[in-house]
Amino acid sequence: MITASAPGKILLFGEHAVVYDKLGIAAAIDKRIGVSAYKGGTAVELQQPFHFPTLRKTQDEIEELHAQFRLLFEQKQFDKIKELGFHNAIYVMLGEIFSKHGYSNIIARAHLSHTLKGIGASASLFSALSAATLKVLGVEATLKEISDFSYIGDVVAHGGTPSGIDNSIATFGGFLSFRKSEGPKPLKLDLNAKIIVVDTGEKSSTAELVSNVRNLREKEPERVNKIMDEIDSISNEALVKIKNRDIVALGNLMDRNHTLLKSLGCGLSTERIEKIVSIAKENGAYGAKLSGAGGGGICIALTDNPKKILDSLKNAGFYCFETNLGAHGVSIDETGF
Ligand code: PMV
Repeated sequence: MITASAPGKILLFGEHAVVYDKLGIAAAIDKRIGVSAYKGGTAVELQQPFHFPTLRKTQDEIEELHAQFRLLFEQKQFDKIKELGFHNAIYVMLGEIFSKHGYSNIIARAHLSHTLKGIGASASLFSALSAATLKVLGVEATLKEISDFSYIGDVVAHGGTPSGIDNSIATFGGFLSFRKSEGPKPLKLDLNAKIIVVDTGEKSSTAELVSNVRNLREKEPERVNKIMDEIDSISNEALVKIKNRDIVALGNLMDRNHTLLKSLGCGLSTERIEKIVSIAKENGAYGAKLSGAGGGGICIALTDNPKKILDSLKNAGFYCFETNLGAHGVSIDETGF
């Protein structure tokens, strides 16, 4: 039995804009998803608790699904790719691995750290599952290969056009700046402040939101491109402020980034997101914003007084926690779970 794990992540700056080759900044957090896998059974079985009942597909079914995906991808039929959904995203990724390294029946089980539930850690799951699967197949994969396979999972999970920031941070860990055309670049981040992660409690679909933004950009290219350019400048400024450890300025940039995302509409912000941002700001956060696709999911707040903000958010009924940033990337965990 092989066990692998990958960290959850937050996007500090640049979500959605990264899809259009703008700069994004991401950090791995100290909550992980683990996957145990071994050769066996009569198909590829993904057992509970994978967030859903046990899934099972035979070699023929996986190969057929993978071929269907490849065709849709070549034809850039992103809406059809989106319809494949999350379960198929997992099997498409496995199909990609098997097509390169040979097929094997496998039984896999995911171990979701409770605190990651509901905060959209699909890339972490893909990264841990692809690392475990490759190891089971006897392949000594590089991090780049694991990241590339996880990217295929995200192509389906994000409805065709992921930026690549999610699979990169889940696989490489630490801190990254990321531009699609340049790939991930490790970043030094040593803030004398804390990040609070807040679960909105609202389920959101990254594929839906990314496709809403894509459609809006087709309808209003000038307005949307201007917003994306502004977000790019904010991420670039943030790199300087991170270097200077200027938390006040970083907080302001987070606020500005949030306002720009909200101004896109498309359901990116919600009442609960706005409530979280207000509570965090009223209680002294330097900055607060949605993190990830929005529409629910998680928010983050930057502070040097986490207790006050955590208490207020908890009183308002939100699940939230202080997190350490910069966790290590995907790993094979010999000790198991
Ligand atoms: O919803 P999440 O946390 O997986 O983040 C998605 C990030 C986006 O920028 C919206 C999409 C992408 O591919 O970068």
